[in-house]
Amino acid sequence: MGVAVGAASRNILLHLLLLLSTHCHGCSARSLSENHGEKFMDHRLSGFPKIDDDGHAHGHGMSHMDHLMMDPQSMIFFTLDDLKPGKTMPIYFPKRDPSSSPRFLPREEAESIPFSSGALPHLLDRFSFSTDSPQAKAMEDTLKHCETKPVKGETKSCATSLESMLDFVHGILGGKSPRFRAISTSHLIGSSTRFQNFTIQEAPRGVPASKMVACHTLPYPYAVFYCHSQESENKVFEVVLAGENGDRVKAVAVCHLDTSQWNRDHPSFRVLGIEPGTLPVCHFFPADNLVWVPIAPALSMV
Ligand SMILES: *[C@@H]1O[C@H](CO)[C@@H](O)[C@H](O)[C@H]1NC(C)=O
Repeated sequence: MGVAVGAASRNILLHLLLLLSTHCHGCSARSLSENHGEKFMDHRLSGFPKIDDDGHAHGHGMSHMDHLMMDPQSMIFFTLDDLKPGKTMPIYFPKRDPSSSPRFLPREEAESIPFSSGALPHLLDRFSFSTDSPQAKAMEDTLKHCETKPVKGETKSCATSLESMLDFVHGILGGKSPRFRAISTSHLIGSSTRFQNFTIQEAPRGVPASKMVACHTLPYPYAVFYCHSQESENKVFEVVLAGENGDRVKAVAVCHLDTSQWNRDHPSFRVLGIEPGTLPVCHFFPADNLVWVPIAPALSMV
């Protein structure tokens, strides 16, 4: 997916709305929960974000949310040196088809619903989930994580509508004539095997991006994205991967070049056997995440 915003902002709205909010555009919150309770459940149970039995997200590091996102099973870390054609590594891609994810609510509707852990009892009542249900737990975790303060050098926001996501992205990437696009991992050919060895097919394509905003889905009865941006330098890549089970994936990867501010306990350091601030740490994004990057001037002359 890659759509220009700015001159073409209506296009991306349409595109994203089509992609992410076809069925329930304009549904009431209650009917949404009735229609999508099960999907919401699937989404949570698909292991993303990973929430411990005791309700805590894994680890503590550059950001709570990064850990919440990084189910150790699904997050395979690698270094810049691994991004070479012919390199094989086991990767877990959670199968979360954006078309089965919870839908975006229109902004006015999303903004009319409280979004704070203090309002949880009211929200559970509104969405008809009992206090001790897994959905209640997932909602509580999502709200708490959205209320967590950003770490040093990070700007974060939980977007409860497409419009608020675009506002946040604009605020970070926008200049005088902001033009940006969203890229995401796409499964060109998929099998039912989530965890398999993948081999990098071609030289990974660097996506020119002075800044980027990563938006991760969070479990909630309607679409909520945790979006964040870090001051430290990142490199974004598109990588064509062939799986040993016949999968073909055009994956978006990011490499964090400066990890010196990360917590030593960050799982990537354990996985890679390195110290903070030594080597870049890279990871792939699951298909339902969005990575927003500016459109390079040379490419924007459409
Ligand atoms: C990947 O390949 C290696 C070497 O053949 C093998 O040991 C490993 O089990 C494979 N991993 C997966 C996830 O299939």
